[in-house]
Amino acid sequence: MTKNSHFKIYLVGGALRDEILSQPVVDRDWVVVGASAQDMQELGYRQVGKDFPVYLHPETHEEYALARTERKISAGHQGFAFDTATSVTLEEDLLRRDLTINAIARDEHGELIDPYNGVKDIHARLLRHVSPAFAEDPLRVLRVARFCAKLKPLNFKVADETMALMKEITQSGELQTLSVERVWSEFQRALTCPDPQPFINTLRECGALQILLPELHALYGVPQRAEFHPEIDCGIHNEMVLRQICKQTDDPVTRFAALCHDLGKATTPSDILPGHHGHEERGADIAEALSKRLRLANEYRQLATLTARYHTHCHRALELKPTSVLKLLGNLDAFRRPERFEQYLKVCDADSRGRKTFENRDYPQADYLRDALRALQSVDTAFVAANAKAQSEDIGEAIRRARLQAIKQFIKKYRNETPD
Ligand code: CTP
Repeated sequence: MTKNSHFKIYLVGGALRDEILSQPVVDRDWVVVGASAQDMQELGYRQVGKDFPVYLHPETHEEYALARTERKISAGHQGFAFDTATSVTLEEDLLRRDLTINAIARDEHGELIDPYNGVKDIHARLLRHVSPAFAEDPLRVLRVARFCAKLKPLNFKVADETMALMKEITQSGELQTLSVERVWSEFQRALTCPDPQPFINTLRECGALQILLPELHALYGVPQRAEFHPEIDCGIHNEMVLRQICKQTDDPVTRFAALCHDLGKATTPSDILPGHHGHEERGADIAEALSKRLRLANEYRQLATLTARYHTHCHRALELKPTSVLKLLGNLDAFRRPERFEQYLKVCDADSRGRKTFENRDYPQADYLRDALRALQSVDTAFVAANAKAQSEDIGEAIRRARLQAIKQFIKKYRNETPD
């Protein structure tokens, strides 16, 4: 690039923000000022997409965008007219960006260009929009919520004026133009943060949770029986369960299932409150519909629905009859899907501890079911099958009987060894 001295290249965006914050930098974005599309092609850059003025560096494959201004011409994230004229300045390019902390640039000499005081906001721990153009991409409401989660350990807050703008965007109906893929991409990234809760809280505060994830929003304000749930409110319980599951795993699939385990409580008929009889089945249907709406991968949908349907079975595991334990493990497909069974147990454990004052309570049910599965796995099914065949018996029935016997022995042994 050096021979093209009319170009200027700047590092911009999240890489600079994360570097200033001493956070790990994942990928770097660059902006090129004063170059045309033809210049980029001549230098061997490959254009990404058809219309979008972004190029990949021939060697590093990092993204280089021509400096541009944007103008919203129709709804949706593709409804923009771009101007990438060589006269577009760095300041103009930074002005169209979402947050001041993402609108800092650094030139090749290491000099920062920070016309919108992003560094000041980094030090003040503030997520503040650069200009009213923030509203042109409603995805930014979710991005801010995600940054709240990502930067939670550093105590970042949303500036009042930005929260006010996020509320306006929510009320304008623009969030409904977002594709489910973009919504889920932000949600999923938030789920991998050490503490994803600020993502949900921020969306709730600006009104977006009700629009984007109404199933989660609907849990707030629904009461539960105080003896089982001293925190009472289902929404607060869900937050506590999320906190517990995050201590156990950073797997977003398991974390998502934890968020979905009680969705059925939002549709409990009011005359049976604060009881929630039947919430498991209702919750499984809601988790299924939510997963389908967000077009989630099967692993998300399956774990979320199984957990919603069977989490209370796990809580009652120690009281279940041998046939019921066998049936539960069969319904969970625990033989063939031991990893998913582990994920399920983690969510049930988190559900049990995610209650006010219950945080340090033991959850022997998880080990009990783990051991029950182990007892079943020790049944030599090939031997049982061969035996049944030799005696012209039904093989399936013989295996079931052998497994039931193993469960009975396991339960007997457990009860003998475990004092009341
Ligand atoms: N950007 C924006 N509005 C968006 C998406 C991106 O203004 N809806 C700008 C921001 O300046 C952002 C930069 O484009 O910093 C790069 O975007 P992206 O790589 O998606 O995010 P980062 O900010 O780099 O951060 P992260 O990777 O953590 O999302």
